[in-house]
Amino acid sequence: MTREDVLEELNRRNAEAEAGGGEARIAKRHERGLLTARERIDQMFDPGSFVELDKFKTHRSTDFGMEKTRIPGDGIVTGYGTVEGRTVFAYAQDFTVLGGSLSHAVSEKICKIMDMAMKAGAPMVGLNDSGGARIQEGVESLGGYSDIFYANTMASGVIPQISAVLGPCAGGASYSPALTDFILMVDKTSYMFITGPEVIKSVTREEVTQEDLGGAMSHNSRSGVAHFVAPDDPGCMVMIRKLLSYLPSNNMENPPLVATDDPLDRLTPELDDVIPENPNEPYDMHAIIGRVLDRDSWFEVHALFARNAIVGFGRVGGRTVGVVANQPMFLAGCLDCNASNKIARFIRFCDCFNIPVLTFEDVPGYLPGTQQEWGGIIRQGAKIVYAYAEATVPKITLITRKAYGGAYAVMGAKHVGGDINLAYPTAEIAVMGADGAVNIIFRKEIAAAENSEERRAELVADYRRRFANPFRAAELGYIDEVITPVQTRVRIAQALAMLADKKDTNPPKKHGNIPL
Ligand code: HXC
Repeated sequence: MTREDVLEELNRRNAEAEAGGGEARIAKRHERGLLTARERIDQMFDPGSFVELDKFKTHRSTDFGMEKTRIPGDGIVTGYGTVEGRTVFAYAQDFTVLGGSLSHAVSEKICKIMDMAMKAGAPMVGLNDSGGARIQEGVESLGGYSDIFYANTMASGVIPQISAVLGPCAGGASYSPALTDFILMVDKTSYMFITGPEVIKSVTREEVTQEDLGGAMSHNSRSGVAHFVAPDDPGCMVMIRKLLSYLPSNNMENPPLVATDDPLDRLTPELDDVIPENPNEPYDMHAIIGRVLDRDSWFEVHALFARNAIVGFGRVGGRTVGVVANQPMFLAGCLDCNASNKIARFIRFCDCFNIPVLTFEDVPGYLPGTQQEWGGIIRQGAKIVYAYAEATVPKITLITRKAYGGAYAVMGAKHVGGDINLAYPTAEIAVMGADGAVNIIFRKEIAAAENSEERRAELVADYRRRFANPFRAAELGYIDEVITPVQTRVRIAQALAMLADKKDTNPPKKHGNIPL
C-alpha cells in the first residue's frame, strides 16, 4: 500500500464512523428537532477542542447476524476537550446506530474515558440517548452496564459527573445517570423509566403516557430524579457549560474564580423591606439570595422539585457558593421528606467539591401529618443534620425570620458545625411559635382564667417578647452576630473570606452511614 492508499483508507474509515447510522436516520432526528451525537458534542465543547477516541472500535457480536452491522464507533462518541478552557471528558450515545444501545464494546469505551477522567482529574459528562442494553448481546451488555455503574460509583466525590438525558433512557440505562451528580433532561424529547407504559399496564393495569411517566417535567417536579429541564438540545448544552462553570475539576481543587465587577462591600438596603411585618405573611427568599450573590450569578438546581426548599449555585466575589434556603412561599417553608432529600444531597455535593454552604433560614418546622410520618420524615429529615454535621467546607447560616424547633437545630445551626451564624433582628428562634407554645404550657392556666382569651393573648405576647427574637440565642453564643439586612452581603462576604482557608476533618472511618 502506498502512503496515499493508507491516507485514503483513514479518510474512508473516518467518514464511515462519522456517518453513524446513515443519512436517513440523521435526517429523521433533525425532523424531530434533535441533534446528532456529534452535533451535541460540538455544541458542548469549546469550538474545535474535542478529540475523539476509539472512533473505529466495533462490537464483536456474531449472534443474529450482528457481524453485518458493525459500524465503526459502535453507537457512541467518546473523548475529551475543553469547556471554557478546562478539560472535560464526555460520551454521546448515537441513537442512529442500533438505537444507541449498549454493547459490551460501548461500555468499554465509556469505562476507558472514565478511567482517564479520574487520572486527569477532570469532570465527566454523559449525553444519554439509548434504547438500553443491546438486546442481541444479552448478558454481555448487562455486564457492561454494571462496569459503568461501578466506575460511576468509584468516581463519585472525586470528579463531578453530569448526565444529560436527551432521548430514551429505559431500564438499567437510567441507573448510570442516577449514580451521577446532576441530571438534565430536555422537555418533551427525553424520558427515563425502569419499566415503560406497556409493562406497567400489563402488571398493574395502570395507564400512563411515556411523558407523564418519565418525561422531563415528571422527573423535575415529581420524582426529583432530574435537576434541570432544558427547552431543547442546544439549550441543554448551554446549561451543561454553565453548570461546569461553578464546579472545580476534581475534589482536590477549588472551584474556578470568575471575574466580577460587583463589589464585596456593596450594601443591601433594599433587603430592609423584604421580611413582612406579619410573621405569617410569606415572601420570596429568592429576593434575599439574589441581592447577596454577585449580580446575575444565581443558578438554581432542582428548581421545580420540593419548592419549599431552594438549592443552587451562585458566586460571592467570583467564588462559587452553594446556597440552601427555606422558601416561605411554599408550605410556609416547612421541611418535608422531599425537601430533606433535596437539601441533604446538595450539601453533600458541595462538601465533596470544596464549595462553601450558605444557608438562608426561615423555617417554622417539619411538615406534620401521616403522609410525612409514614413517608419516613424522621429518617429523611435526619439526612439534613447528617449532611450539615459531616460537611467540613465553610458553613454560614443567616436566620431571616423563623427558626423553630427541630428545624432550627438542623438547618446549619452552630451545634451542627455552623462556622458563622447570623440573624436578622426579625429572627424568631424558639422551640415553636408563640401560640402553639402557650397552648401547651399554659393550657390549665388559660382554662381556669376568668377571661381565657384575654389571658391567652397576654401569655402569647409574653412568650413572643421572650423568645420571638434572636437575642436569647445571641446571648448564648448560638448566633455570632445580629445583623441588619443592609449589611447582609458585606457580612457574608467577610465570613467567606475569613473561612477561605478553613481546615476541618472528621474522625477517620471507612465511610459513615447516612440514614438513607
Ligand atoms: C438493539 C435496539 C435497541 C436495543 C432500539 N434498537 N433499542 N437494538 N438493542 N435495546 C434499534 C431498533 O431495532 C431500531 O433499529 C433502532 O434501534 C431504532 O429503534 P426504533 O424502535 O425504531 O426507535 P423508536 O421508535 O424511536 O423507539 C425507541 C425505543 C425502542 C423506545 C428506545 O427502540 C425500544 O423500546 N427499544 C427497546 C428498549 C428496551 O427494552 N431496552 C432494554 C432495556 S433493559 P433499526 O435497524 O430498525 O433502525 C436494559 C437492562 C439493563 O437496558 C440493565 C442493567 C442493569
